[in-house]
Amino acid sequence: MTQSIWRVTAQVQPGAYPKLVDDVEVDVAIVGGGITGITCAALLAAEGRRVALLEARTIAFGTTGNSTGNLYEVLSSGLAPVGQKWSRQVVRDVATSRRQAIELVERFAGRFGEASCFRRCPLYQYTSGDWSKIQAEYDALKDAGIAARLEEKAALPGPAAQSRAMVVDHQAQFHPLNYLRSLGAHAAELGVRVHEHSEVVEIDAEHHVLHTESGSVKAKEIVLATHTPKGIFGVHAQMLTHREYGVAGEVQSLQIPAGIFWQDGQTKRSFRNLEIAGKRYVIAVGAPDKTGLHDSEKALASLRSISQEYIPLGGERWEWSAQGYESPDLLPYIGRNPMDELYIATGFGTDGLTYGTLAAQIIADDILGKENPWATLYRAARFSPVKSIKQILEEQAIALKGLVADRVGLPEYAGPGSLEPGQAAVVKANGKKVALYRDEAGTVQAVSAVCTHMGCIVHWNQVEKSWDCPCHGSRFDICGDIIEGPALSPLATVDMEALGPRTGKK
Ligand code: FES
Repeated sequence: MTQSIWRVTAQVQPGAYPKLVDDVEVDVAIVGGGITGITCAALLAAEGRRVALLEARTIAFGTTGNSTGNLYEVLSSGLAPVGQKWSRQVVRDVATSRRQAIELVERFAGRFGEASCFRRCPLYQYTSGDWSKIQAEYDALKDAGIAARLEEKAALPGPAAQSRAMVVDHQAQFHPLNYLRSLGAHAAELGVRVHEHSEVVEIDAEHHVLHTESGSVKAKEIVLATHTPKGIFGVHAQMLTHREYGVAGEVQSLQIPAGIFWQDGQTKRSFRNLEIAGKRYVIAVGAPDKTGLHDSEKALASLRSISQEYIPLGGERWEWSAQGYESPDLLPYIGRNPMDELYIATGFGTDGLTYGTLAAQIIADDILGKENPWATLYRAARFSPVKSIKQILEEQAIALKGLVADRVGLPEYAGPGSLEPGQAAVVKANGKKVALYRDEAGTVQAVSAVCTHMGCIVHWNQVEKSWDCPCHGSRFDICGDIIEGPALSPLATVDMEALGPRTGKK
């Protein structure tokens, strides 16, 4: 099992929030207990709205609890590409809106004390390869009036790192799990009904009702703060889904100063440190890989190798991964979904802590009837085919492969002995596509390999021990239960007895 550094260093205890077991009516129902949902709930409750928040597992279970803890006004994929697709003004607006979101985090963190580990720090961008991309980013920032500077002799981590860097000062870092648990407690104090282990299994958009297995919430407004909206939405056909891996280890002395360090080029990685409870840690995060379409062990091995100078391979370490959704025109979708009036917030890329906070503010303001200066820029209903076409075609090719090509040429089921302990495979058995996993004790778990979202074939993730769908990022555990993504139903369980032949390798 993977585990993020935030879970082992958390000082704020998790709240004990009950499962939803009745039918309630509120002003606003929010699905998802990550940074978007909890922040939105707190903002609305502070203005007197009755709010219920439903989380399928526990607060910060998903991407927020597996994030980097970095907050920055620029973008990890660069603001220069935003300038090329949009305009200089949009570059300025993105940076300004994200700066304001960081200031909102800072205000909340100030309320929660030192546990949030909030600190201001510089962000460094550098490369061991071609400098021209960073120069272009520097030029775009200067052109848009954003403070950035070049430093020729910076102390920079990373393989064969150079000492020249672009620096954006006054960015920030925090402990996302401590922060979110504190914010959850604050929201509950303000009157938010927080329900954990309350997975939404049906969204009745017409009647504004959310159903779980044991209760329901009727609300004037529904916010899907689930990183990607639950159910079937037009944005799913446009966004690419990726995963990135993180590794952290405790160190005796910090070779990496306070700061966000992004190394570009062939060895794209990011580094940061963490000091908490008298201990020191170094955290390294790798480049994003497409969900369901990469070798997870290889991605993690590469990160281990590249970070071993700072995180010794022999010592205690923690490894994890997180998912991101990339919008095709480089801006997230925030606001009312045009088809059903539900609020959605998605397409944050790998910049979700800041965008999630910004989304919470935009959506809360809209519900409260307040004008928000960024609502139009990020509106979910925008249509930008010229800016988006390249990625939409790529996403459609992935979906086509998942729906058609992945079904062809699957091996026939050859009995449980055909898998070694720890191995998984997708096979054909009695006309069904079946996802098989054999655990270390030899027990085989069989579930349908057909994703319940829109029918693509799931792929195995050996690092996370999960079935990941390449089409829109739904992920399921070995029992078929949903971990994350747009799917609303688990993978169907398959009766091993009905699978057919019992021959195969022992
Ligand atoms: Fe959409 Fe699997 S088909 S996530």
